[in-house]
Amino acid sequence: MMETRFELSEEDYRYLFENASDAIWVQDMEGNLVDANKAFEKLSGYTLDEWAGMNCTQFLCDESLDLTREVQRKLLNGEELEQPYEQRFVGKDGATRVIKTTTSLVIANGETKGFQHIARDVTEESQLRENMRFYIQQVTRSQEDERKRLARDLHDDVAPSLLLIIQRLDAITSGTKPRLSSLLKNKLEDLYTQVTRALENLRRYAQDLRPGIIDDLGLVAALEWMAEKLAKDYGIDTKVEVIGVERDLPGEVQLLLFRIAQEALTNIRRHAEASRAWITLEFGDDKTVLTVKDNGKGFKLPQRMGDLASVGKLGILGMYERGRLLGGTLEVKSESGKGTEVVAEVPLPG
Ligand SMILES: Nc1ncnc2c1ncn2[C@@H]1O[C@H](COP(=O)(O)OP(=O)(O)OP(=O)(O)O)[C@@H](O)[C@H]1O
Ligand SMILES: [Mg+2]
Repeated sequence: MMETRFELSEEDYRYLFENASDAIWVQDMEGNLVDANKAFEKLSGYTLDEWAGMNCTQFLCDESLDLTREVQRKLLNGEELEQPYEQRFVGKDGATRVIKTTTSLVIANGETKGFQHIARDVTEESQLRENMRFYIQQVTRSQEDERKRLARDLHDDVAPSLLLIIQRLDAITSGTKPRLSSLLKNKLEDLYTQVTRALENLRRYAQDLRPGIIDDLGLVAALEWMAEKLAKDYGIDTKVEVIGVERDLPGEVQLLLFRIAQEALTNIRRHAEASRAWITLEFGDDKTVLTVKDNGKGFKLPQRMGDLASVGKLGILGMYERGRLLGGTLEVKSESGKGTEVVAEVPLPG
């Protein structure tokens, strides 16, 4: 039988190292550069003569240095760590690049001599991600402005016009002069009922677009209003609990938390088959935590959130984005047969 296994020579390894498309550099325990490949030279702009006398502190910004030291400490202690990790790399031209780095120990004769780093330049991806996040923030904000304007137009312009028609119809049908034929009277009364219903619907649409209660009475009142609606209209017993001393949150924070709760409750109503739901708003010393929980059937979360968007499901993604917009985090936990929990944590400003 033919032997298919073969060993790479030292020279082969050197070739791989030199020509790898990722930047590779090796440092001693003090951070002095011991070796680097061509891709590192391309990334940094430093030639062999230049990098040979350099230390990592010269091309990693402070924050990244702290991170790389933490990674090195964990490697030395055999602790678990997440790799690759992101760092900011400052090249010879002074420009900062974002790199994704994987670090490993360099061991010779049983002794740790230094660290080897393999890094990929992800500046463009990272820029794209930033732009996307900025775009989502702007769209979310302008969507709120648009909803507010629409709700106000409906409330201030369209509703009064309908109200006026209702009053006129009422005056005509209930007045004695001129006498109306019963046929016409019935038709006008029918019209009266229809316009009254249209006005009720319109007020509900305006409320759904932008509940005035959040602007007038704040988040807690708005959450209670939503809980009551869920109980009354859908028979889901929903409780609101406030923990800690209630704090006056900035308008945008209240609105975004309200939208997160609104989506979570809509999901409970549409998907959970729950009989009970709980909304908790906790005012902590350094953060505010909103939790929306149900006792419904639960579901399996997709591995990647992007999978939801590709099938047109935008609710949970929207909650994540709003959480991020608040500089906080959002977590969805769900267990089959037990229910679902959405937790939004928002740090206090400053
Ligand atoms: N509380 C819940 N209980 C059970 N399943 C849920 C719950 N919340 C979400 N889900 C499941 O997760 C899926 C994704 O929710 P998501 O809100 O992102 O989309 P959607 O509600 O289907 O559509 P929309 O974009 O209108 O919100 C739902 O389709 C549903 O299967
Ligand atoms: Mg949804």
